[in-house]
Amino acid sequence: MSTDAPAALITGGSSGIGLATARLLLEEGIGVTVSGRDPEKLEAVAADLGSLGKLSTVAGDVASVDDAEAMVGATVAAHGRLDYLFCSAGIPGVAPLDDLDEALWDRVLGVNLKGTYTVIRAAVPRMREIGGGAIVTMGSEAGLTGQPQLAAYCASKGAVVNLTRALALELIGDGIRVNCLSPGITNTPMCEVEANMAPDPQAVWDAWKKWAPIGRWADPEEQAKAALFLLRDATFSVGSVLVTDGGYTAL
Ligand SMILES: NC(=O)c1ccc[n+]([C@@H]2O[C@H](COP(=O)([O-])OP(=O)(O)OC[C@H]3O[C@@H](n4cnc5c(N)ncnc54)[C@H](O)[C@@H]3O)[C@@H](O)[C@H]2O)c1
Repeated sequence: MSTDAPAALITGGSSGIGLATARLLLEEGIGVTVSGRDPEKLEAVAADLGSLGKLSTVAGDVASVDDAEAMVGATVAAHGRLDYLFCSAGIPGVAPLDDLDEALWDRVLGVNLKGTYTVIRAAVPRMREIGGGAIVTMGSEAGLTGQPQLAAYCASKGAVVNLTRALALELIGDGIRVNCLSPGITNTPMCEVEANMAPDPQAVWDAWKKWAPIGRWADPEEQAKAALFLLRDATFSVGSVLVTDGGYTAL
């Protein structure tokens, strides 16, 4: 079954930037499948956004090849096609090197880097079936700069940037554009998790609010607009990195 309306899979779409993007895409008439790990959160997403358009949800872990296949399968089952993939799922991982043990390293790289590869690999054949599509990976200002106590996160996001470039060149012949969104600090649940790992969470919170030269942090809705741009409108962008960091990497 193939329908005419375009459809998107958003990983990590039950909160933060992914959730804001799901809302925006639905408002723009794009069918959306949201994937996330927590079925209860997915139910809340369905209740919150279900009236906006054609929405489905699927639970799974992006670090699992089987779950990634299931996410893509669920998207095609719900919408008849897969045009857009937004790999928003990600986790932080704040630790000085001495505390960065193998388990934490594997977890951060497993979700942020491997979890991007798994879903892209599952999605590409379905995009080829309809003559092309667009993929947006999730980088970070921490993928373009080094930051202390964030070695695993920086490594994962830097790798995502170059994964994006490699796959962009490999897949553009199939009509599939691959680009990377690189946000700066954005007010999402991830920031809360990260701040709470610090000895003085409130101090971190306060610092982040004025982290970027623009003098504030981003709202998830601002990142969602950039994601939509790369997915749908940036028809000549291939292997690009769209930096939405309020000027942080311009310093
Ligand atoms: N918030 C920021 O300041 C910021 C800045 C730069 C980049 N990012 C990136 O943006 C992306 C979205 O983060 P956010 O800020 O919206 O935070 P968030 O925590 O709200 O969203 C991340 C989502 O990914 C999901 N997730 C985590 N591990 C997963 C797994 N193994 N399988 C499936 N889903 C999983 C989480 O459940 C959550 O819904 C992340 O990749 C993050 O690294 C965030």
